[in-house]
Amino acid sequence: MKISIINKKGGVGKTSLAYSLAKDLELYLLSNDDSVIEIAYPDMAKIMEHPKLIDNVVYDFGGFVDAGVIDILNKSDFVIIPLTSDLNSFKKTVSLINEIENDNIILVANKAEKEDFKEIETFFKKKFGFPIFEIKNSRIWKKTFEESKSASEIKNSSKINQYVYRNSIDGYEKLLNFIKEKNNG
Ligand SMILES: Nc1ncnc2c1ncn2[C@@H]1O[C@H](COP(=O)(O)OP(=O)(O)OP(=O)(O)O)[C@@H](O)[C@H]1O
Ligand SMILES: [Mg+2]
Repeated sequence: MKISIINKKGGVGKTSLAYSLAKDLELYLLSNDDSVIEIAYPDMAKIMEHPKLIDNVVYDFGGFVDAGVIDILNKSDFVIIPLTSDLNSFKKTVSLINEIENDNIILVANKAEKEDFKEIETFFKKKFGFPIFEIKNSRIWKKTFEESKSASEIKNSSKINQYVYRNSIDGYEKLLNFIKEKNNG
Protein backbone atom coordinates (compact mmCIF):
# COMPACT_ATOMS: atom_id res chain seq x y z
CA MET A 1 0.00 0.00 0.00
CA LYS A 2 1.13 3.51 -0.84
CA ILE A 3 -0.39 6.52 0.89
CA SER A 4 0.55 10.10 0.05
CA ILE A 5 -0.15 12.99 2.38
CA ILE A 6 0.15 16.39 0.80
CA ASN A 7 -0.94 19.99 0.88
CA LYS A 8 1.04 22.98 -0.31
CA LYS A 9 -0.36 24.84 2.68
CA GLY A 10 2.01 24.67 5.65
CA GLY A 11 1.10 23.70 9.19
CA VAL A 12 -2.06 21.75 8.35
CA GLY A 13 -0.83 18.63 10.14
CA LYS A 14 0.69 16.64 7.26
CA THR A 15 3.72 15.30 9.13
CA SER A 16 1.76 14.49 12.30
CA LEU A 17 -0.86 12.56 10.37
CA ALA A 18 1.70 10.80 8.15
CA TYR A 19 3.68 9.69 11.20
CA SER A 20 0.70 8.23 13.06
CA LEU A 21 -0.67 6.48 9.97
CA ALA A 22 2.74 5.00 9.13
CA LYS A 23 3.14 3.63 12.67
CA ASP A 24 -0.43 2.35 12.98
CA LEU A 25 -0.35 0.68 9.56
CA GLU A 26 3.28 -0.52 10.01
CA LEU A 27 4.47 1.24 6.88
CA TYR A 28 7.67 3.05 5.96
CA LEU A 29 7.58 6.85 6.11
CA LEU A 30 9.32 8.95 3.45
CA SER A 31 9.34 12.73 3.37
CA ASN A 32 10.80 15.48 1.22
CA ASP A 33 10.52 17.96 4.09
CA ASP A 34 12.56 18.41 7.23
CA SER A 35 11.08 17.12 10.51
CA VAL A 36 11.94 14.81 13.42
CA ILE A 37 10.51 11.66 11.80
CA GLU A 38 13.91 9.91 11.51
CA ILE A 39 14.39 10.21 15.29
CA ALA A 40 10.78 9.38 16.18
CA TYR A 41 10.53 6.39 13.83
CA PRO A 42 14.02 4.87 13.63
CA ASP A 43 14.87 2.58 10.69
CA MET A 44 11.42 3.19 9.19
CA ALA A 45 11.44 6.90 8.34
CA LYS A 46 13.71 8.70 5.92
CA ILE A 47 13.92 12.28 4.69
CA MET A 48 15.18 12.70 1.13
CA GLU A 49 14.94 15.45 -1.45
CA HIS A 50 13.45 13.12 -4.06
CA PRO A 51 11.60 10.21 -2.40
CA LYS A 52 11.52 7.10 -4.56
CA LEU A 53 8.44 5.10 -5.50
CA ILE A 54 8.40 2.08 -3.15
CA ASP A 55 5.69 -0.10 -1.60
CA ASN A 56 4.35 -0.26 1.98
CA VAL A 57 4.88 3.43 2.51
CA VAL A 58 3.37 6.68 3.68
CA TYR A 59 4.75 9.79 1.96
CA ASP A 60 4.76 13.13 3.75
CA PHE A 61 5.06 15.67 0.95
CA GLY A 62 5.59 18.98 2.66
CA GLY A 63 8.42 20.12 0.46
CA PHE A 64 8.79 20.98 -3.19
CA VAL A 65 6.19 19.51 -5.55
CA ASP A 66 8.01 18.38 -8.70
CA ALA A 67 7.25 15.85 -11.45
CA GLY A 68 8.52 13.00 -9.23
CA VAL A 69 6.05 13.91 -6.48
CA ILE A 70 3.16 14.21 -8.95
CA ASP A 71 4.07 10.78 -10.36
CA ILE A 72 3.96 9.22 -6.86
CA LEU A 73 0.64 10.98 -6.11
CA ASN A 74 -0.88 9.52 -9.25
CA LYS A 75 0.35 6.02 -8.36
CA SER A 76 -0.74 6.09 -4.68
CA ASP A 77 -3.60 3.97 -3.35
CA PHE A 78 -4.75 7.01 -1.37
CA VAL A 79 -3.89 10.68 -1.54
CA ILE A 80 -4.79 12.29 1.76
CA ILE A 81 -5.08 16.07 1.82
CA PRO A 82 -5.29 17.60 5.28
CA LEU A 83 -6.72 21.11 5.34
CA THR A 84 -7.98 23.68 7.78
CA SER A 85 -11.08 25.79 7.47
CA ASP A 86 -9.84 29.02 5.92
CA LEU A 87 -10.10 30.36 2.42
CA ASN A 88 -6.36 30.17 1.65
CA SER A 89 -6.35 26.53 2.63
CA PHE A 90 -9.45 25.94 0.44
CA LYS A 91 -7.80 27.64 -2.56
CA LYS A 92 -4.56 25.66 -2.29
CA THR A 93 -6.54 22.45 -1.82
CA VAL A 94 -8.67 23.05 -4.94
CA SER A 95 -5.61 23.76 -7.12
CA LEU A 96 -3.87 20.67 -5.75
CA ILE A 97 -6.89 18.42 -6.42
CA ASN A 98 -6.91 19.69 -10.01
CA GLU A 99 -3.24 18.77 -10.43
CA ILE A 100 -3.68 15.16 -9.30
CA GLU A 101 -4.88 12.37 -11.60
CA ASN A 102 -6.14 10.05 -8.92
CA ASP A 103 -9.75 9.42 -7.84
CA ASN A 104 -8.78 8.03 -4.45
CA ILE A 105 -8.44 11.37 -2.73
CA ILE A 106 -9.40 11.68 0.94
CA LEU A 107 -9.83 15.07 2.57
CA VAL A 108 -9.11 15.55 6.25
CA ALA A 109 -10.60 18.54 8.04
CA ASN A 110 -7.71 18.83 10.46
CA LYS A 111 -7.37 20.68 13.77
CA ALA A 112 -11.14 21.00 13.50
CA GLU A 113 -13.13 23.04 15.99
CA LYS A 114 -16.81 23.98 16.15
CA GLU A 115 -18.19 24.47 12.61
CA ASP A 116 -14.92 23.76 10.74
CA PHE A 117 -15.87 20.28 9.56
CA LYS A 118 -19.31 21.43 8.36
CA GLU A 119 -17.77 24.33 6.44
CA ILE A 120 -15.24 22.07 4.74
CA GLU A 121 -17.85 19.43 4.00
CA THR A 122 -20.26 22.00 2.54
CA PHE A 123 -17.58 23.43 0.26
CA PHE A 124 -15.85 20.24 -0.91
CA LYS A 125 -18.57 17.56 -0.87
CA LYS A 126 -20.63 19.28 -3.59
CA LYS A 127 -17.58 20.28 -5.61
CA PHE A 128 -15.70 16.95 -5.66
CA GLY A 129 -17.52 14.24 -3.68
CA PHE A 130 -14.40 12.79 -2.02
CA PRO A 131 -14.70 11.24 1.44
CA ILE A 132 -13.99 13.75 4.21
CA PHE A 133 -12.88 12.91 7.75
CA GLU A 134 -12.76 15.21 10.75
CA ILE A 135 -9.69 15.22 12.97
CA LYS A 136 -10.35 17.43 15.94
CA ASN A 137 -8.01 19.95 17.39
CA SER A 138 -6.29 18.08 20.24
CA ARG A 139 -3.10 18.21 22.30
CA ILE A 140 -2.55 14.53 21.57
CA TRP A 141 -1.01 15.41 18.19
CA LYS A 142 1.79 17.45 19.78
CA LYS A 143 2.51 14.50 22.09
CA THR A 144 3.03 12.05 19.22
CA PHE A 145 6.54 13.31 18.47
CA GLU A 146 7.39 14.00 22.12
CA GLU A 147 6.64 10.38 23.01
CA SER A 148 7.50 8.73 19.67
CA LYS A 149 4.04 7.18 19.58
CA SER A 150 1.15 7.36 17.14
CA ALA A 151 -2.03 9.08 18.32
CA SER A 152 -3.74 5.74 18.91
CA GLU A 153 -0.69 4.35 20.74
CA ILE A 154 -0.86 7.32 23.10
CA LYS A 155 -4.59 6.94 23.61
CA ASN A 156 -4.28 3.23 24.31
CA SER A 157 -1.13 3.42 26.46
CA SER A 158 -3.08 3.65 29.75
CA LYS A 159 -6.60 3.64 31.22
CA ILE A 160 -6.20 7.31 32.09
CA ASN A 161 -5.25 8.24 28.53
CA GLN A 162 -8.13 6.19 27.19
CA TYR A 163 -10.39 8.35 29.32
CA VAL A 164 -8.67 11.69 28.65
CA TYR A 165 -8.58 11.17 24.89
CA ARG A 166 -11.88 9.24 24.61
CA ASN A 167 -13.32 11.66 22.02
CA SER A 168 -10.13 13.22 20.67
CA ILE A 169 -9.24 10.93 17.78
CA ASP A 170 -12.51 9.30 16.73
CA GLY A 171 -12.17 10.80 13.25
CA TYR A 172 -8.59 9.55 12.97
CA GLU A 173 -9.71 6.06 14.02
CA LYS A 174 -12.47 6.16 11.39
CA LEU A 175 -9.91 7.14 8.74
CA LEU A 176 -7.63 4.30 9.82
CA ASN A 177 -10.49 1.77 9.54
CA PHE A 178 -11.56 3.19 6.18
CA ILE A 179 -8.05 2.66 4.80
CA LYS A 180 -7.79 -0.85 6.28
CA GLU A 181 -11.18 -1.89 4.87
CA LYS A 182 -10.50 -0.49 1.39
CA ASN A 183 -7.15 -2.16 1.34
CA ASN A 184 -8.53 -5.59 2.25
CA GLY A 185 -11.51 -5.46 -0.10
N1 LIG B 1 -5.36 17.67 14.92
C1 LIG B 1 -4.51 18.52 15.48
N2 LIG B 1 -4.85 19.23 16.58
C2 LIG B 1 -4.01 20.10 17.16
N3 LIG B 1 -2.77 20.34 16.74
C3 LIG B 1 -2.35 19.66 15.64
C4 LIG B 1 -3.17 18.72 14.96
N4 LIG B 1 -2.45 18.21 13.93
C5 LIG B 1 -1.25 18.81 13.97
N5 LIG B 1 -1.17 19.68 14.99
C6 LIG B 1 -0.05 20.55 15.36
O1 LIG B 1 0.11 21.52 14.33
C7 LIG B 1 1.48 21.82 14.15
C8 LIG B 1 1.85 21.57 12.69
O2 LIG B 1 1.71 20.18 12.44
P1 LIG B 1 2.60 19.43 11.35
O3 LIG B 1 4.02 19.77 11.52
O4 LIG B 1 2.18 18.01 11.38
O5 LIG B 1 2.02 20.14 10.04
P2 LIG B 1 2.66 20.15 8.57
O6 LIG B 1 1.53 20.35 7.63
O7 LIG B 1 3.51 18.97 8.37
O8 LIG B 1 3.54 21.47 8.64
P3 LIG B 1 4.73 21.91 7.62
O9 LIG B 1 4.02 22.51 6.46
O10 LIG B 1 5.46 22.94 8.43
O11 LIG B 1 5.52 20.69 7.31
C9 LIG B 1 2.24 20.96 15.14
O12 LIG B 1 2.50 21.72 16.29
C10 LIG B 1 1.27 19.83 15.46
O13 LIG B 1 1.46 19.30 16.75
MG1 LIG C 1 5.52 18.78 7.80
